[in-house]
Amino acid sequence: MASEPPLKKTPRQKRITVPEFSASKKTSKKSVQKITMITAYDYPMARLVDEAGVEGVLVGDSLSMVVQGHENTLPVTLDEIIYHAEMVGRAVDHALVIVDMPFPSYHLGTHKAIENAGRILKETRCQAVKLEGGVDQAETIEALVSAGIPVMAHCGLRPQSVHQLGGYRVQRDENALLNDARAAAEAGAFSVVLECVPTEVAQRITDHVDIPTIGIGAGPHCDGQVLVLHDVLGLTCDDASRNVPRFVKAYADLQTEITGAVCKFRDEVRDGQFPGPEHGYE
Ligand code: KIV
Repeated sequence: MASEPPLKKTPRQKRITVPEFSASKKTSKKSVQKITMITAYDYPMARLVDEAGVEGVLVGDSLSMVVQGHENTLPVTLDEIIYHAEMVGRAVDHALVIVDMPFPSYHLGTHKAIENAGRILKETRCQAVKLEGGVDQAETIEALVSAGIPVMAHCGLRPQSVHQLGGYRVQRDENALLNDARAAAEAGAFSVVLECVPTEVAQRITDHVDIPTIGIGAGPHCDGQVLVLHDVLGLTCDDASRNVPRFVKAYADLQTEITGAVCKFRDEVRDGQFPGPEHGYE
């Protein structure tokens, strides 16, 4: 009997690599297209944002708030991040996929940080990790990079330090911010997120470090911008657990769309309009 031909696999597109992502740094000699990065936490959303053509998809620890409903990013665990990163990693064909190292998975010594970041790269199809810190995390960044694990740093407002910072505040200490971004770059980070930093300070940092800066609440002069997907879609549940920051721009109002669709379904079932004959079987 003739054997079945092998199942045709859909060819995967080539993903953006870490060096390609880093090359999107504007310099005095070259101007480049701005980098766009957005969060995703599951397969369908990751497919959609990838199809939209962003350069970076971040499995952010913001999932603790926007998906799990916690009041901050501290509760999400490494296993939970990996669970979500696996779904995102399976979905994305084009963008670079970066995964947040949750608190305190990189604060327990460099050995443990490599073990934890190594799990992220081994168990998901994701390519890089992100951690919060600059000068204070230089040793860890260096150790991860030496182990072949690409690191994106996150400076400025560090949500995992919310208790120490006393809240989600704009970070204004220019010297400290510049030192952090420089230390991260010198330690081998391939990019740095700047969160809640005054526009002019972010511009100076962008001019002074040779890796791309990705801003969130840091003005228009960064090399790229990142936002939380649920904020962009207008899906941020407007309850006491999360005040939507001023740097957010909602490009859709899916909260209204979703509630409206579910109300319509409810009403049609109650009125006997759904299911109709076309939804049944002979
Ligand atoms: O967790 C996250 O979504 C982030 C972005 C806000 C940069 O760190």
